[in-house]
Amino acid sequence: MERHGSETYFVIGEGLLGETVGGRDRTLAAELEAVSPPFRFSRMGPRGTQRQPTESIREKVGNVMVEGGGGPSQIPAGFTYLGQFADHDLTFDKTSVMLGENVSPALLLQARSPSLDLDSLYGAGPTEPKSAKFYEADGEHLKVGTTDAIGNIPAKEGFDLPRGVGTSPADKRKAVIPDPRNDENLAVAQTHAAFIRFHNRVVDTLPGSVPQAQRFSVARETVTKHYQWILRTDYLPRVCPPSVVNSVFTSGRKAFEVGAVPTDVPTMPIEFSVAAFRLGHSMIRSAYNWNKIFDNGAGTLDFLFLFSGLSGDLGGGKRLPSNWIADFRRLYDFGEAGRADLTVAEAKFNRAMRIDTSLVNPLKTLPGFPAGERNLAFRNLTRAKMVTLATGQQMVTFLKGKGVTLTKLTAAQVRDGSNGASLDVLTPSQRTAFVADTPLWFYILREAELNQGRLKGVGARIVTETFHRAMEGSQASIVRDPTWHPTLGPDNATFRMVDLLLFAFKGKKTLLAPLG
Ligand code: HEM
Repeated sequence: MERHGSETYFVIGEGLLGETVGGRDRTLAAELEAVSPPFRFSRMGPRGTQRQPTESIREKVGNVMVEGGGGPSQIPAGFTYLGQFADHDLTFDKTSVMLGENVSPALLLQARSPSLDLDSLYGAGPTEPKSAKFYEADGEHLKVGTTDAIGNIPAKEGFDLPRGVGTSPADKRKAVIPDPRNDENLAVAQTHAAFIRFHNRVVDTLPGSVPQAQRFSVARETVTKHYQWILRTDYLPRVCPPSVVNSVFTSGRKAFEVGAVPTDVPTMPIEFSVAAFRLGHSMIRSAYNWNKIFDNGAGTLDFLFLFSGLSGDLGGGKRLPSNWIADFRRLYDFGEAGRADLTVAEAKFNRAMRIDTSLVNPLKTLPGFPAGERNLAFRNLTRAKMVTLATGQQMVTFLKGKGVTLTKLTAAQVRDGSNGASLDVLTPSQRTAFVADTPLWFYILREAELNQGRLKGVGARIVTETFHRAMEGSQASIVRDPTWHPTLGPDNATFRMVDLLLFAFKGKKTLLAPLG
């Protein structure tokens, strides 16, 4: 099964770290593979010390972290999966949809580097033979999928991912999208389907003056820049302090690839990938008021896995059954866009869990992993050890040295947190060691937990600077084009996720919540 994360990390200057088996499948000709590392990771800060937590500590802390979420936040739950969608965009290895002979070393470098340019949606574009299958025959529209009728709910076109046409049931279920990880759970799959619709609507509304040959690329650039605008103005300020986001986006980075030539290809700091951006794992709910049918918590996380093509079997069929189509009014607050007619009662609305050291219990037993390897918190802590990641405390020292203003958590704060995972499970000496040299992921979640569930200090800085660099280095970039403004929102400074959905679904309740 395709994994959500990397099994191996090629860190620039250090080589391949991590497991030697189970990495990504070979996607290119052997000669090209030989000259190119799989994906370009780097270290933002120092290498960690050898004082990494033992297996016993990782097991105990991993278990206590998945005992249950620390309560809901104010963030609408849809943003959890927009975050996952963005993560897949950042870490997508485009060589998986490119043909070896067409790939020059420069293209290879770009294809295996983090950027926020929606290659997880577009692949290598309609003219690349291996990506053509994602597109309609016109080479402009992305293919959409159709759900399966169930009971008295008919099949509905455009509400599922496009799926395979092979012969075996598994092939037929397989999503025909560049990054299969976007079918890992139903919420991220419906997010991807909404982006497909968004692109197609942008194509449909292009002025007739755009020459035929440029219609796709103009639409893609419009979509990508609006998406980046959402990440910068709507997503990041919800998970990080707006002051940090504004400072990085207006005054520049202090710690990561400072002074890089903007168009140079960025790298992916392992501090982001292995720790900071795994923040999303703590936002996941164990149950959702998914839609009118699977209401009152009946949209469990287990069902969201089951009704996906990667973690489940779509409930046994070959397409998503119509009764599982998302009700976007329950995932995003359209009241923010002045559309009170598209809101639901608070009791029906889903809010993400606050960002803290407590993850919901189903994440203790992830589907698709062998017994003993199914606990997501344990996996995250172990991954960090594998790459000898810097601790939270080391990153404080590093960032301060770069001129970032932040306050180090005290030992008592790391130990006690605020209604998060309790370290009482550790022996006194284990606890002392853990509190002195705290794994970065845990440290960042503690910072957030002590800050009403929003990243702070080390976490906020790593996340914001990595997003900034990934946008700067993208082919279409709002960072390199500072005069660009959204054109598809209510005014020329506003484009939020709700605006994207309103545009994609024509502002209609029958499309945003087709089950009523
Ligand atoms: C139900 C939802 C999710 C599931 C089941 C899930 C599961 C996983 C798994 C199994 C891994 C690999 C762990 C390992 O290193 O062995 C992973 C990696 C990761 N996840 Fe998630 N995740 C989910 C949602 C999210 C969200 C919402 C975010 C961020 C907002 C996120 C960010 C990441 C990142 C940054 C990585 C490392 C990526 C890489 O190395 O390529 N995940 N996740």
